[in-house]
Amino acid sequence: MKNKERQPSTLCVQGTHAQTSGPAVVPITQTSTFVFENQQQMLDSVQGKSSGHVYTRWSNPTTENVEEKISALEGTEDTHVLASGMAAISSAVMGLVKGGERILSSDSIYGGTVQLFNKILPHSGIRVDYVDTDELVDRISDSGGTYKLIFFETPTNPTLKVVDIKKVADAARASGTTSMIDSTFGTPINQRPHKLGVDLVMHSATKYLGGHSDIIAGTLSGPTKIMADVRGAAKLLGGTMDPFASFLLDRGIKTLGVRMERHNFNAQYLAEKLEKDQRIRQVHYPGLPSHPHHDVARKQMDGFGGMLAIEIESDLAGTSTFVDSLEIFLNAVSLGGVESLASIPVLTTHYGLDEQALAEMNISESTVRLSVGIEDAEDLLGDLTSALDLVCN
Ligand SMILES: Cc1ncc(COP(=O)(O)O)c(C=O)c1O
Repeated sequence: MKNKERQPSTLCVQGTHAQTSGPAVVPITQTSTFVFENQQQMLDSVQGKSSGHVYTRWSNPTTENVEEKISALEGTEDTHVLASGMAAISSAVMGLVKGGERILSSDSIYGGTVQLFNKILPHSGIRVDYVDTDELVDRISDSGGTYKLIFFETPTNPTLKVVDIKKVADAARASGTTSMIDSTFGTPINQRPHKLGVDLVMHSATKYLGGHSDIIAGTLSGPTKIMADVRGAAKLLGGTMDPFASFLLDRGIKTLGVRMERHNFNAQYLAEKLEKDQRIRQVHYPGLPSHPHHDVARKQMDGFGGMLAIEIESDLAGTSTFVDSLEIFLNAVSLGGVESLASIPVLTTHYGLDEQALAEMNISESTVRLSVGIEDAEDLLGDLTSALDLVCN
């Protein structure tokens, strides 16, 4: 069977290899450096004329194995795996954008990315302009190629807004600008942005790709030409993935297909049940027909993901009691692991933002973010309704 015919779950387990001998599991090559027979061999590798590994900050066999698998899943020529999602974003930006050039970013992006853009990039003379997700396409089209990079995220955190990926990619291409997406919430099982025209696809692989809340990892996937600049920057910035973490990432990805089926199912089940509960003011989930971007989500996603947010009929004290009373959902930040997590954005990811900023993002003291895991859906619903019973009458 030709590799190009392999479906996502097969790629998750087997990658693109047609393996006939050797270990069934790619071993951990836990070494910092590699030995060569002579200077010529070493030089050929340093110059990229032969494919040998030289030094693990540059490349490593265990890491390369998982990179090939992610490229196959995303449909890109190349992938680079890094030590965190933030290492991926910073390496991409430093590799692609020079001092004096500008980035256009949608305003609904991960808080750490905002801080990188606002606090660190100005040191290098890089400016980031923000635009409402709904106005991103028009702004790109009106920009006349002013920007070097378009950055956006979909679905967004925590209210699960969905951006039309193809429209953004088309507008960026028409204006001669490189586009980059943070596709963490989407996963390559639910959406494949490169196939819709986005140049560079990034994940915090700490989340669904790893899937077990036991590694910190990031990925960048794109065409070889763009990735050459990104890899060059990553090599010098040094956010290199450790071989053991690469092994765990590969092991996590093997079950990504089945995990996402269950995440998608559980989150849809909870969203539909909770939407009917009078004690919940609003449920944010792109799989609900009531979600403002449901049609776009249906067009570009194969599943709606495991993240949802709810607005409880209560104040911050009640919201806190609700989360503290949960027994199956763990009171923790992060997302995308097999275990369900609950967090309150105003106390965690969006802590310290003023009321206006929160209102613009549709976040309030009543908002609870749920990372729905792969436990039994009825147990999860029971946990949520028991906690609601304690807070709302
Ligand atoms: C959407 C998104 N992007 C990027 C990141 C940063 O990833 P990491 O924590 O792996 O550096 C996070 C972390 O929570 C995230 O949720």
